[in-house]
Amino acid sequence: MHFSLLYAVVLLAVPTLVVACEGSCITDTTAKMHNNYNKPVACALSNIGQEIIDTYNLNSVPGSPTISIPTLLQPMTTCYNNISFDALETALFPHFFHGKCLDADGNEPDGCPDPDCPIVCGTPGSIVHFYSMWYHISYNTTVASFSSCADPHSTPYKTLQKRILAHLPESKTEAGPGPQVLRSRRSGVSDHDEASTSLILEEHVGSSLKHILARFPQRLEECCGGAKIPSCIWEKQMKKLVLSFP
Ligand SMILES: *[C@@H]1O[C@H](CO)[C@@H](O)[C@H](O)[C@H]1NC(C)=O
Ligand SMILES: *[C@@H]1O[C@H](CO)[C@@H](O)[C@H](O)[C@H]1NC(C)=O
Repeated sequence: MHFSLLYAVVLLAVPTLVVACEGSCITDTTAKMHNNYNKPVACALSNIGQEIIDTYNLNSVPGSPTISIPTLLQPMTTCYNNISFDALETALFPHFFHGKCLDADGNEPDGCPDPDCPIVCGTPGSIVHFYSMWYHISYNTTVASFSSCADPHSTPYKTLQKRILAHLPESKTEAGPGPQVLRSRRSGVSDHDEASTSLILEEHVGSSLKHILARFPQRLEECCGGAKIPSCIWEKQMKKLVLSFP
């Protein structure tokens, strides 16, 4: 008999739980936002790739194999593609948008749960009302995903560094404003110094590479149209999609 009572309570409770951003509302809206970021992220990566090529004079020796920006940065893009969707979904749901739309007195304000709810909760109406949080969280999480891939202790960082070292110009006649340690390498080192030279080189590439990658937030901001990231908002399109869920 306890069972049937519980069952009745559950049945009564179900209709009030249905109105929330769950299941495909979560995955579809996250996926749309994530896809929207493909273009600005590609833009930022392309600028970073060019800066790496220019900084280390890669592709500067005629007749040597050249490396393309996508190939150079593949360790970073593979890592970003692997972690960024889950990171975005978690940052939006449930970290920010979750729970019922009740105020401090336990009442549900007008507009809640839909279509425009002034309480942070897990419904489409709340996402519409706090849309500026939605797109700022998306931006910050995109930056955070890339930054964790670019961490100097990470495997993708080390792989990228190896790719750069493998494509450094070796020619002694190579001119240009390369880092000093690279010039001294070019001016000739004896064989027994080779190991220690490559260690210095690796450290040098490491520290300047770290700085180039650390500028990802600025590069992404530029690719989003400036400080207010006007081209990374997608407000009309996203609100329409969000409100298409009950
Ligand atoms: C993808 O990310 C997971 C953690 O989110 C990690 O365990 C796994 O090693 C990653 N795979 C690749 C290929 O980077
Ligand atoms: C995004 O990151 C910036 C800089 O770290 C921070 O000031 C801002 O509060 C963050 N915004 C959100 C919505 O998390």
